[in-house]
Amino acid sequence: MRHVVTGAGSGIGLALAHRLGDRGDDLVLVARSTARADELGRTFPRAQLLVADLADPGTLNGLGRQVDGEVDTLLHVAGVVDLGRVDRLRLAEWEEQIAVNLTAPAVLTRELLPHVRASHGTIVFVNSSAGLTANAEWSAYAASKFGLRAFADALRAEEVEHGVRVSTVYPSRTATPMQEKVHEQEGRTYDASRWISVDTVVDTIVHVIDLPADATIPDVTVRPVVPRPGT
Ligand SMILES: NC(=O)c1ccc[n+]([C@@H]2O[C@H](COP(=O)([O-])OP(=O)(O)OC[C@H]3O[C@@H](n4cnc5c(N)ncnc54)[C@H](OP(=O)(O)O)[C@@H]3O)[C@@H](O)[C@H]2O)c1
Repeated sequence: MRHVVTGAGSGIGLALAHRLGDRGDDLVLVARSTARADELGRTFPRAQLLVADLADPGTLNGLGRQVDGEVDTLLHVAGVVDLGRVDRLRLAEWEEQIAVNLTAPAVLTRELLPHVRASHGTIVFVNSSAGLTANAEWSAYAASKFGLRAFADALRAEEVEHGVRVSTVYPSRTATPMQEKVHEQEGRTYDASRWISVDTVVDTIVHVIDLPADATIPDVTVRPVVPRPGT
C-alpha cells in the first residue's frame, strides 16, 4: 500500500509512519521545511518527501503533481493547539490553528483526490474529542476541529460515487509532545501513563484503513480509561 502522511515527525504521525513503513508499505511524507524533510528522510530512508508548510496552505497548491501514481490512503495527522480564553487568544494563534488543522487538510485533499480515487482508497482525518465538544479555553482548536469534521462529512458524501472511503478518528488525550504542551498551558503536571498511548491510536487508524472493501468506519472515538483498573 502507498500512504501519504502529514505530521510524521512527531507523536501519532511518527508512530503511524513507523508502523506502516515497518510492514513494508510505501510512504509519502509531508514536511514543513527542507530541513525537516532531511531529518524525516534519515528516519524513513525509503520515503518520498514533500515540502509544504501547513500553516501556509498556499504552499500545498500543485503538490499533487509531485506524486506519481495511485495513493491508497491519505492520512491527515498533523495538528497544532494553543489554549487560551477568547479574550486572550491572539490572531496569529487563530490563524495557525485554522490553517494547519482545517484549511491545509482541505487543500491537500483536493490536490491528492485524483490519486486516491484511482485506487478507491481511504482518507483519514485525525480529529479530536475537541471536534465533538468545545470546552472553555479550547475555542480556536475546537473550532478548527469542528470544521474538520464538517469537511470530512461533506467529502464523504461527495466521494461515495468515486469509491473513496472517508473516516474521522476522534482521539481524546494521547501521550505525545502535543499533550505535554497542553498540560503546560493548563498548568498541570504531565503524566504520560494516564493517557492513551500513541500505539493504541495507531491501532485504530490501521484498523480503519485495513478494513475490507465491503465496509467503512465513518467515525470512531478513542477515549482513555481513567482510572486504569488496578491503579
Ligand atoms: N495528543 C493528543 O492528546 C491529541 C488528542 C486528540 C487529537 N490529537 C490530534 O492528533 C494529531 C497528532 O497530534 P500529536 O499529539 O501527535 O501532535 P505532535 O506530537 O505535536 O505532532 C504534530 C505533528 O504535526 C506537524 N505539524 C505541525 N504544524 C505543521 C506545519 N505547519 N507544517 C507541517 N507539519 C506540521 C508537526 O511537524 P514537526 O514534526 O515538524 O513539528 C508534527 O509532526 C493532531 O491532529 C492533533 O490535533 C492529539
